[in-house]
Amino acid sequence: MKLLVATRNDGKAREIRDLFAGLPFELVFPVDQFLERLPDEADLERGTSFAENAVAKARYFAKRSGKPTLAEDSGLEVDALDGAPGVFSARWAQMHGVGEGDAANNALLLERLAGVPDERRGARYRCVVAYLETPLAKPQLVEATCEGRVLTAPRGSGGFGYDPLFFSTDLEMTFAEAALPAKQRVSHRGRAIRALMEVLLRRSR
Ligand code: IMP
Repeated sequence: MKLLVATRNDGKAREIRDLFAGLPFELVFPVDQFLERLPDEADLERGTSFAENAVAKARYFAKRSGKPTLAEDSGLEVDALDGAPGVFSARWAQMHGVGEGDAANNALLLERLAGVPDERRGARYRCVVAYLETPLAKPQLVEATCEGRVLTAPRGSGGFGYDPLFFSTDLEMTFAEAALPAKQRVSHRGRAIRALMEVLLRRSR
């Protein structure tokens, strides 16, 4: 079965491809399908919840491709920041006018948590995956989290996004220090995608 994965984020694409390895799904991505980025794509992540954004992305790309589509929306929720950056994780620094991309986001996170002691640096990643069999179908939603805390300095060079600062409670290291299989075993995305796979495999039996 062909499945369009509605992301242009290379870090997410690498992890999702790896999670589906060996399963009876042929993953395709917008870039493989010649679905070039259009101006209206910028409006897809303007919702106030991960679920709203994941469904908007899935609906948009299912309509454009005509294929069963999977989309995910994810982010980091920091307790001491009342859940920020949350749904704004990808463009948090940009929204505050202090740069753009992972390095700027991580710098802002360190700045906002300056002076906050270890015991109050709790955080979690959250991921919502939406699947649409057809463009107008009711979305299948799954959600997962993984717990950790934000370090005071980056560690490791793997992963993407906030991974060098996110110390995983399960792995006792940052996601940027972890090998990919270890991150996949405990991560928000690994857990959510595996839950969706079970639903898809059950349906196809
Ligand atoms: P979006 O779902 O495209 O809005 O982007 C999610 C953003 O959350 C990413 O750009 C990262 O900043 C952050 N994020 C989500 N999952 C991860 C992860 O597994 N590692 C590091 N950062 C992540």
